[in-house]
Amino acid sequence: MVTSSRHGRSWRLRSEQIVEYEIVDAPGLLDPDNPALASVPGTAGRSGTRVVVLDDAVEALYGERIRTYFDQRDVPVAYLVLPGSEENKTVERALDVVDKLNAVGTNRLSTPPLVIGGGVVADVVGLAASLYRRGIPSVRVPTTLLAQVDVGVAAKTGVNYGGYRNRLGSYSPPPLTLIDREFLATVPERQLRNGMGEIFKMALIKDRRLFDLLAEYGAGLVEARFQDPGPGQDGVPGTVADEVIGRAIAGMAEELEPNLWEKNLRRSVDYGHSFSPLVEMRALPELLHGEAVAMDCVFSAVVATGRGLLDAADFTTVVEVAGRLGLAPAHPLFCDADLVLEALADTVRHRDGRQNLPMLTAIGEVCFLDDVTEAEIKQACATMADLLDARPADAR
Ligand SMILES: NC(=O)c1ccc[n+]([C@@H]2O[C@H](COP(=O)([O-])OP(=O)(O)OC[C@H]3O[C@@H](n4cnc5c(N)ncnc54)[C@H](O)[C@@H]3O)[C@@H](O)[C@H]2O)c1
Ligand SMILES: [Zn+2]
Repeated sequence: MVTSSRHGRSWRLRSEQIVEYEIVDAPGLLDPDNPALASVPGTAGRSGTRVVVLDDAVEALYGERIRTYFDQRDVPVAYLVLPGSEENKTVERALDVVDKLNAVGTNRLSTPPLVIGGGVVADVVGLAASLYRRGIPSVRVPTTLLAQVDVGVAAKTGVNYGGYRNRLGSYSPPPLTLIDREFLATVPERQLRNGMGEIFKMALIKDRRLFDLLAEYGAGLVEARFQDPGPGQDGVPGTVADEVIGRAIAGMAEELEPNLWEKNLRRSVDYGHSFSPLVEMRALPELLHGEAVAMDCVFSAVVATGRGLLDAADFTTVVEVAGRLGLAPAHPLFCDADLVLEALADTVRHRDGRQNLPMLTAIGEVCFLDDVTEAEIKQACATMADLLDARPADAR
């Protein structure tokens, strides 16, 4: 559009982009007879060498099977192994990916890189792909619980920089994410509980059925590592594992879709993420993200109960179910009112000057508050201290 006036001319452009991406349940992904991984866009025919980035844990545990899979299908692959875990979420690792794409001569569209690993490598590769040649598609195969239910649904990529989490990043969802819960068989128990923290949050904000499933089967799911029971064994049926993961993904997708670019800062998925970011950073490396999120879920429920928004009985259930999932309700840093108030101030800055605090009105329902007071925070910190004292000494 061209406009002109006596003082000069200007040219305004307006364009729209439809964003569409898919998360697909793909069990038995590494079975050589399963075509799913080989039918990822760009694999068939003479489309050139594909870059496959492997999490180092995935390389150690599944590297041989992955190589056999692609060899048997005559897919030319250049592998790159990157370390998982937060301290490796750096711009240097993203540039390693770019170097690999360059060395292989990856095209803009026809051979999207594939990343198989936890949330850290998924975020690193996602960022690299979004920068390479101004952005190419990629395909994700998340291999931790947290990555399957959270990162794998998200549109965001990023690396940590300058002492801040995800300071460099982009909104660029890979067009395809493949979910195979068989990978969870090898995920350390604590990492599974970490993923449970995010599922717990999702259940609390919008899905009572998911909450009830967690209450009944959550502990068993972690113990069985989300795998089907073997023949003749008792345990959690695989259908429950599928339902829990499926509901968590669907809930996340439903919340993200209308607000993908986060223009609306009243996000119920931010439940559990209001006070925890600073606590988590201060507690590093003691607390994992999902563990801190679960504590924030409890803390926020304390505030809601104090206001009379949430029943005392529901509050007790929330704490009890967190416990069954092996998630502690509190940490000494959550009893430190100065720190929690600082965390809230930080969050207010992030939410453009308003609290926008998601709060439970029941299990499975939220409202938003903008007027939580310093006195309420102090009171909630005192309640957190009581919860901490109420735990058996060996669980603290
Ligand atoms: N993009 C987003 O919107 C979004 C959303 C949520 C979280 N995240 C990010 O995700 C990251 C956390 O992801 P994470 O919890 O997967 O951590 P992670 O990637 O560090 O994985 C945890 C550990 O498990 C190992 N691992 C991966 N798969 C395995 C398997 N199948 N068996 C055994 N070990 C395995 C990894 O090597 C690592 O040591 C954080 O950096 C967070 O910021 C991003
Ligand atoms: Zn989170």
